[in-house]
Amino acid sequence: MPHSIGRVETGEAPHPSGRARLPRLPRLPRLARAVRLGAPAVAALLALTTACTGSTVQGRPGASGLRDPYFPKAGNGGYEVDHYGLDLSYDPEKGLLQGKAVITARAEQGLSSFNLDFSGLKVEAVTVQGAGARFNRTGNELTVRPAKDLRNGEVFRTEVRYGGRPKALSDPDGSAEGWIPVADGAFAVGEPVGSMTWFPGNHHPSDKAAYDITLTVPKGYEAVSNGLLGSRTDTGDGRTAFAWHSADPVASYLVTAAVGKFRVTTGRTPSGLPLYTAVSPGEPEGGGPALARLPEMVEWAAGRFGPYPFAAAGAIVAPSETLSYALETQTRPVFSGAPDEELVLHELAHQWFGNSVSPKSWKDMWLNEGFATYAEWLWSEDHGGPSVQRRFDAFVAGDDSVDPAADSDWDEFPPAAPPGPGDISSGPVYYRGAMVLHRIRQEVGDERFFALLRGWVADHRHGNASTADFTAYAERKTGTDLSRVWDAWLYGRKALPRP
Ligand code: TRP
Ligand code: ZN
Repeated sequence: MPHSIGRVETGEAPHPSGRARLPRLPRLPRLARAVRLGAPAVAALLALTTACTGSTVQGRPGASGLRDPYFPKAGNGGYEVDHYGLDLSYDPEKGLLQGKAVITARAEQGLSSFNLDFSGLKVEAVTVQGAGARFNRTGNELTVRPAKDLRNGEVFRTEVRYGGRPKALSDPDGSAEGWIPVADGAFAVGEPVGSMTWFPGNHHPSDKAAYDITLTVPKGYEAVSNGLLGSRTDTGDGRTAFAWHSADPVASYLVTAAVGKFRVTTGRTPSGLPLYTAVSPGEPEGGGPALARLPEMVEWAAGRFGPYPFAAAGAIVAPSETLSYALETQTRPVFSGAPDEELVLHELAHQWFGNSVSPKSWKDMWLNEGFATYAEWLWSEDHGGPSVQRRFDAFVAGDDSVDPAADSDWDEFPPAAPPGPGDISSGPVYYRGAMVLHRIRQEVGDERFFALLRGWVADHRHGNASTADFTAYAERKTGTDLSRVWDAWLYGRKALPRP
């Protein structure tokens, strides 16, 4: 049985397929220095500032990164985004993207300049609050200098016009992410930082926002993104514009855009959730038998984890071999070819674990992957597969007759401490992460364990959480000291007890 999680072609490494905010940079001691100049000097300075800007607003540059432990330049300081309005047109034949991003954000400090993460593509023009802004680029940082400084707390609108041929990125683990062109279309996947290849933004999971994405493509092509399709409009010039809407917060790595000659299936789950699935030509009808079970899976998962957190569900099936992994893009995961049942379930489970409750940093990845893997085990147990206990035991024993990944590298490092950015999607984060959950269950029993899972997603719905948030929550919710589990299984401060 192929394991659900996409494997790299070599077959050895299984590709076991988001704040309290991160600490902000310290305030610059600018005012302190001004104070030491003495009152007259300060008055003179303020008068000068007023003369220059027409106000007493005095900003300073926003930080160029949020100091994520693994992706320190991801995201930016000094503001938080509320909404992205992306208006994109794509020519699949030439591979050319033309874009306008309208970013509505709130300043969290006075800002003289701020950064957006953006990779490749040419920036044509930037305005802030309707006025032309100066900008420059270094690496993947686009620095924007508004004509007028922004006040702390000000809600401001930035418009970036850009275009070119988007270029995918190579992850620290060697896999591709970002805008991925294929023979007759393209697919965007952004974990962890690929979304900066096709729109400028605050690309860190701790800054989630609502999205409206309009994709204009030549007639004959379909264009799919997250959430609900608001309209599909013939533009009159041989193109079709698809307007997609996500009202609930989305972490930017979970935003997708897919262009292709898809066969589209729509429907509803038994409880009425709208479904929209797009399948590439050459792939099985509806994306195959496993995807056909999505409505049933949504009901099953809601029973286990609590209400489905978003307004829509579905899938995007890219041509097989497009990617070496699947991604849980919000409401509409991207698969490369028809997925098997466990993979569909895995990406669905991420809608609760990862998408609604997002990691505060990329170090907390096991909160995504350990939980989604455990969800697979639960589904499998309920549908004729091995019991979760049997699967756990098989991993401990390295018995791959129960699960092909049982003799993988799952024990190589503790899930809460991947050695580096290239390890956040490695086996231990998935499998040993799932084993952490099973160890908690063994300590507290089924009733308190499932109440913990449901409480976790309910109390952090549409938010962000860290590993420390989880361990504290688990102990509080179950009334149990779980330090032995954390030490041995999660952080690896103690050797694992072996049978
Ligand atoms: N998070 C994805 C999943 O669990 C897998 C994934 C995304 C991945 N990007 C990756 C795996 C890069 C390996 C490398 O389905
Ligand atoms: Zn996953």
